[in-house]
This record gives sequence, structure tokens and C-alpha cells, in this order.
Amino acid sequence: MSHELVLVLDFGGQYNQLIARRVREHKIYCEVKSYKTPIEEIKAMNPKGIIFTGGPNSVYLDDSPRMDREILELGIPVLGICYGAQFLVYALGGVIEPAHDASLSEYGKTECEIDTSSPLFDGLEKNTIVWMSHNDYISKVPDGFKSIGHSVKCPYGAMADEERKLYGVQFHPEVNHTVQGFDMLGNFLTKICGCRGDWTMESYAETAIRDIRAKVGDGKALLALSGGVDSSVACKLLAKAIGSQLTCIFVDHGLMRKNEGDEVEAAFADSGVNFVRVNAGERFLSKLAGVEEPERKRKIIGEEFIRVFEEEAKKIGKVDYLVQGTIYPDVIESGLGDAAVIKSHHNVGGLPDYVDFKEIIEPLRLLFKDEVRALGTTLGLDEKLVWRQPFPGPGLAIRIIGDITPEKVATLQDADAIFREEIANAGLDRSINQYFAVLTNMRSVGVMGDGRTYDYTLALRGVSTSDFMTADFSRIPYDVLEKVSVRIVNEVKNINRIVYDITSKPPATIEWE
Ligand code: XMP
Repeated sequence: MSHELVLVLDFGGQYNQLIARRVREHKIYCEVKSYKTPIEEIKAMNPKGIIFTGGPNSVYLDDSPRMDREILELGIPVLGICYGAQFLVYALGGVIEPAHDASLSEYGKTECEIDTSSPLFDGLEKNTIVWMSHNDYISKVPDGFKSIGHSVKCPYGAMADEERKLYGVQFHPEVNHTVQGFDMLGNFLTKICGCRGDWTMESYAETAIRDIRAKVGDGKALLALSGGVDSSVACKLLAKAIGSQLTCIFVDHGLMRKNEGDEVEAAFADSGVNFVRVNAGERFLSKLAGVEEPERKRKIIGEEFIRVFEEEAKKIGKVDYLVQGTIYPDVIESGLGDAAVIKSHHNVGGLPDYVDFKEIIEPLRLLFKDEVRALGTTLGLDEKLVWRQPFPGPGLAIRIIGDITPEKVATLQDADAIFREEIANAGLDRSINQYFAVLTNMRSVGVMGDGRTYDYTLALRGVSTSDFMTADFSRIPYDVLEKVSVRIVNEVKNINRIVYDITSKPPATIEWE
């Protein structure tokens, strides 16, 4: 790819992905690499700028991450953030000291005065709030550097050697708490590195399509399509690149949300690829009959899924390429720069062992989730699929507590569809990160008309989260909940009580099973 490239060198900081995201928000392509990346490899990438991330260590410890200091002599602009700034100081002969005295360490929102005559802070407000998080501090900057920002405790909150284009900030410009952080990064990228911002989804799509065509030639590719955002966008991209040379297998396990199987089929059946939908609902339900234990349900579904996929793949015969919807966070989390680890990270675990293929294609492996969505939109993918909220592989099986029957599946599908419809009507569908209904196995007494009922309790769940590792329950307005409740008990059979789940994760999980 011939995009301008900015390199983010990871020293183990918790915000490494966030820095990369921010750079890309400035329409500049960037990659995160380990600080261990050999200098020759870095030179070959020809980056326009390099950002050193933060990290948990102290630079003066023996086993702290350190780069070959030749990186600072390449003439490439560098911005060191937190530990990255301290590494700059260490490497160039300044002094870092541990803040034994609590009056010298800083954590949280901090007032900082910045020197707006520096290109890093050009056009910004002089007095600003930044996010600090450090135990060590810079007590003396290297020769050639000067302070370009300070807080009450920290004389070198930001420093620069403008001539060599080396910059360091003790705070984190990538987090939203640093009020002007986005613009500071923008200044570094455009005013210091000279980037123009040529990274767009159109250009990504064009390049990816060209690369896929060159790679696949007249070979055959296979994709396991789940209907999730990643596999759907991968499918659309491959469809544009190689059309009928691609076969998509969509295993409909009958535990999708209402109409979802048909929506997936409608989005891809006419896209020029060989689209195979396997309606395996009865097969899955018969395997699940009478099973109540959540882990057992998951295991049965996982195994059956692979079996169905394998049977279908065998019918197609030899394929050259298996397409995976791996995305960039998976790549980063799998171990930076370690190709062996990255390869084993798949969305559909286990499939490669069962299918005879030559190579894996991962066309989204450099994209973040929202970039995958933007690519989907660029490629004309159905909005419903582009904005689909996460849906667990085992589907509604883990949202029906206790044993699963076809009737319960239908009940939950109907109730869940109403909940989703009303959330969309209220304009909340893109702000609540995940929301769904759960059919509990609890029944209670109710009254309808003049008669007694003894029916199921349905639970509603809505969460706000950025990473799905922790989550807070969403504060859905009462009038929306009321509408949902009234509609469900009136329109869906077998439900006479609705509760809203107000636990966060932890201690609860997002799903109920
Ligand atoms: P929990 O319930 O662990 O869920 O808080 C976190 C996120 O993961 C999704 N999830 C799954 N996704 N296969 C998946 O592809 C699964 O087996 C699975 N289980 C949970 C869940 O929907 C939430 O977004």
C-alpha cells in the first residue's frame, strides 16, 4: 500500500490501540508495532512519523523496554508519550527520577500551560487540561530540548527539540480527558510530520480489492458467514474482488434473532458469490433438547457448527483460500509482530483444522471495528448488517434459561424483536451498545382480562460499554421501557411479566448464560 504511514511503537501502554485510532481519525494510516521491531524493518516501512506509547515500567529498571537509539537519528519526527517521552530523555542523556515524593507524581486531570509557539501546540489554548498518569518524572531534559508545557508539579509536562523534530509529552493526548489532545496529535501529524491525510475507506477498498485479486488469481476461496459485521463486510469485499470464485457458507442454526437468517440471505444471495445457506435449525434443536447447563449448550452448538460447516465445505472440494474476518484489535491482542500467534486467532475457532486450504486471507486485519463499519457502508452493505450489534455465536440458546424448545425460541424472537423495534423508534439503537431480551425459566402469576395467568418472566438487558469486558447497564428512559413492556405482554404469548436487568459487568456478565 502506498499510503502515508505513521508508526506507533508499543512499549506496553494500555492506550496503544487508542493512539492508533486517533491517528487514523486524522485520516492517516498507522500501524502498531512492538518496540522490539528491528530498526531495518522500521526503515523499510518508511514512516512519516513515529509515536512511542506509554508503558508500565520505569526506564531506569534493567528489564525495561528500550529501543535501539538509532531510531532517533533517522531524521523521522518522533512523539514520545509518557513512558515514551521518558525513554526519549533516557536515550538522549537527560534524567528521569522516581517520584518517591507524592508531590511529584501525577494522576488524573491536570492543569497545564503549553507553549503555543511550538508547532505541537500551534493554534491551541494556552491553559488546558491534560490527563497525567506517571510515577516517574523528567528532572532534566537532554541537550537541545526545552520545556514546551508545564504543570504545577511537572516542569517538563511537554518538551521539544524542534530542530531534530523530537517531542515528548508526559501526559496522554490520546485520551478524551486531555481536552485538546486530538488537536495536539493532529499538529504532530500534519505540521511536524507533514502528513496530508490520504487514508480513506474508498482508497482502502480499492487497494484491498486489487491485492485480493492479485493474490487469489483464478483460485477458489471459502468464507464462513455468520451475519456479524466482520464476516459480512469481508464477504462484501471478496464479492467485489473475486465474485463467483468465493463460496460463503452461512450456517443458520435456527437460534438467530427474528428474520435475521432471511436478512443475511437477502444481503448476499445476489451478490455474485456462491451463497450457501444451511438451514440446520432442527438439527441444532434436537441436539439441544433437554439440555439446561449453559456450558453444555455452548459446546454442543460449537461442535455442531463445525460439523455442518465441514460437511458443506467437503461438497465444494478443494479451496485455495479460507477468508477470516479477523480485525485489528484481534491482531494486536494476539501478540504484536508475532506472526505465529496471530495466525491462530480466528473468528470461527477450529475451522482451519477441518478444511483443506492453502492460505488464510484476512482482508480486515488492519481495521478497527468502526473502520470495518465504514468500509461496509462504502461497499454498499445493508445498514442493518453494518450496524448490527454483537450477537453471540450460540445465539438465543444462551438467552433462553433452562431447556430450549422451538416454542421458547419463537417467543423470545418475538419479544426481542419488539424490544429492538422500540429502541430504534426511540433513536437509541446506536447509543446502547448491546440490548436484548432473555427468556427466564421463571413463571409467575398474573392477571389478564378477568383471568389468572401463570406465564414466563422476560428480562430486558441493555448495556453501555466500549470493550465488552466491563459494562454498565443502560439508563433506558422509563417511558421507552413502559412501551416495550406493554407491547410484549400484549403481543407475545406466554409472557406476563417483564423485568429490566440493572446489574453491571462485573459482577454480572452481559449475557445471562
Ligand atoms: P459476556 O456475557 O461474557 O459477553 O459479558 C461479552 C460479549 O461477548 C458476547 N458473547 C459471545 N460472542 N460467542 C461470541 O461470538 C460467544 O460464545 C459469546 N458469548 C458472549 C456477548 O454477546 C457480549 O457482547
